[in-house]
Amino acid sequence: MPPGERIADLDAVPDDSSLLITVADRESGEEREAILVRAGDGVAAWFNYCQHWRDVNLDTGDGAVLRDGELVCKRHGATFERDSGECTFGPCEGAVLDELPVELADGGVFLDADGYEFVRVGASEDDADDDIHKSTESRIGF
Ligand code: FES
Repeated sequence: MPPGERIADLDAVPDDSSLLITVADRESGEEREAILVRAGDGVAAWFNYCQHWRDVNLDTGDGAVLRDGELVCKRHGATFERDSGECTFGPCEGAVLDELPVELADGGVFLDADGYEFVRVGASEDDADDDIHKSTESRIGF
């Protein structure tokens, strides 16, 4: 039996980009964006920000860039393994994207994170989300 809420059909997750979704923190109600990407035979989900500057989204609404199988941050070119989330090149090399746990079942992608509920496919409509991630304290200088 699937562990949580169904997010999307597996077929809705593209091979060459990402599917942007929004979840909400069950305690605060704060919306957060995440991206679903194909990873091997499965799907990985990462919160939608770079580990270099956390106010920079990997997917700005038209899908994240994938090059040679890795996610690419459009701002300074950091690359991330799509299955592990590890930055393999760039100013945050060695850092790891923050994961949103998901699971595959019945041809779909399901949320497997007790602290979050699925809100929608697409961008967050919560302006407060932007404020949190625009803090300069979350930036790694270079
Ligand atoms: S903000 Fe992503 S590499 Fe700098």
